[in-house]
Amino acid sequence: MSHGSTAKPIAAIVGAGRTKFGELWYDNPEKLLFEAGLQCMQSVDKGINRTQLQAAYFGSFLYQSTNKIGLIPGHMSKELGLNIPISMTEAACASGGSALYNACVSIRSGLHDIVFVGGFEKMTDRANLISDDLMFAADPNEVNAGYTFPGLYATMMARYMYDYGKGNEDCGDAMAMVAVKNHHHAMPNENAQFRREFTVDAIKNSSIVAHPVRLLHCSPVTDGASALIITTPEKAKEFTDDPIYIMSSQQATDAISLYSRESLTSVKTTKLAVGAAMKEANVTYDDIQIAEVHDCFTVEEVMFLEDSGFYKTGEGWKGVYESYESGKGSKHIPYLNEGKELIVNPGGGLKADGHPVGATGIRQVQECWAQLRGEAGGQQVDGDIDTALAHNIGGTGAICTAHILRRNI
Ligand code: COA
Repeated sequence: MSHGSTAKPIAAIVGAGRTKFGELWYDNPEKLLFEAGLQCMQSVDKGINRTQLQAAYFGSFLYQSTNKIGLIPGHMSKELGLNIPISMTEAACASGGSALYNACVSIRSGLHDIVFVGGFEKMTDRANLISDDLMFAADPNEVNAGYTFPGLYATMMARYMYDYGKGNEDCGDAMAMVAVKNHHHAMPNENAQFRREFTVDAIKNSSIVAHPVRLLHCSPVTDGASALIITTPEKAKEFTDDPIYIMSSQQATDAISLYSRESLTSVKTTKLAVGAAMKEANVTYDDIQIAEVHDCFTVEEVMFLEDSGFYKTGEGWKGVYESYESGKGSKHIPYLNEGKELIVNPGGGLKADGHPVGATGIRQVQECWAQLRGEAGGQQVDGDIDTALAHNIGGTGAICTAHILRRNI
């Protein structure tokens, strides 16, 4: 596929792996990470030895409270049998994306040229306590006010529906259609937590969690891990004839509390990180075929479509509604805008593939890597795909990472 971009890659992915997502009660976090890492090493076409790894960056959020463990680098040093620098990144649900951002910094700086990146979370063991644990990623005043994460996103969704969809039932349907689409996309995904179709009515009639957020608007509580090996663009072909290039790696940060934000209906860090990533990669939406988007609650996918510029402010839900109506029944349901098609979350996204928070940002990039190589199994997108975007959010938007990947440079 030819494209007009003249940007140079900053790094290359030569291997990727993941565990299944779901309730994996029999494994501990470091074993999950090791399993994803092993699959990642085995995916390197021309082979790699663990002694070639020069550094590792791991993302996770809650392991200290969910599993009463700390100093993960020590555990991983033992598992890997290596004494290389191993660093941890905590950025709530963007811990994985942020680990990759830091790994890219180390490659860009020239300090390392073969870096292992991983993400993991083990949430299901905590049963009813996990909603409270997740609130580490919120402002203390929000905690004291009795908020949970579904509650915080309910505030954003309620405001969005009031501002842009008041009196129009189609807006509520559009919020449900995001979930229907992503559950549909996950049906062939062998690693997904949920492989189950839902109707729009089923989403709208599921149990209320925090009005207007219902159970089926939410991403689930999940265990899982994911891993990548990245190297310099120059070294990539030593490991594979088909590397996937990282064209841009960006991260933006904002206040943690919703009440400090400029808007409840858009996420500033998405605008900043995705805007900077598109600029760095020198691409527009005309170049991007698939996007892995942080759909922790369905309204977040709608806001992404606006914050990243795919739809105009306030019109995302209309785009979702119209796209769903014209695409339902097909293997993937693309978002449509003036002749442009964008497939979002081709393997089911956080909603249906699952959301082990620290693993998510790396899982998104692993999915893009597999899609771009034509190796995504049953959820492989039809046609020629060359460029993908991965968007990972922490908290209600205090942090966002964006990575743009490309097969042909
Ligand atoms: N999507 C689809 N199905 C879900 C689901 C989800 N998010 N969460 C649970 N289910 C299913 C379960 O598999 C179960 O199905 P079954 O009856 O067929 O076995 C049923 O719904 C009830 O599951 P249960 O575990 O009792 O649900 P719950 O009420 O304890 O938890 C939520 C539901 C929505 C509260 C929970 O998933 C949640 O807190 N999600 C948000 C997580 C979060 O905030 N992450 C951070 C994002 S920033």
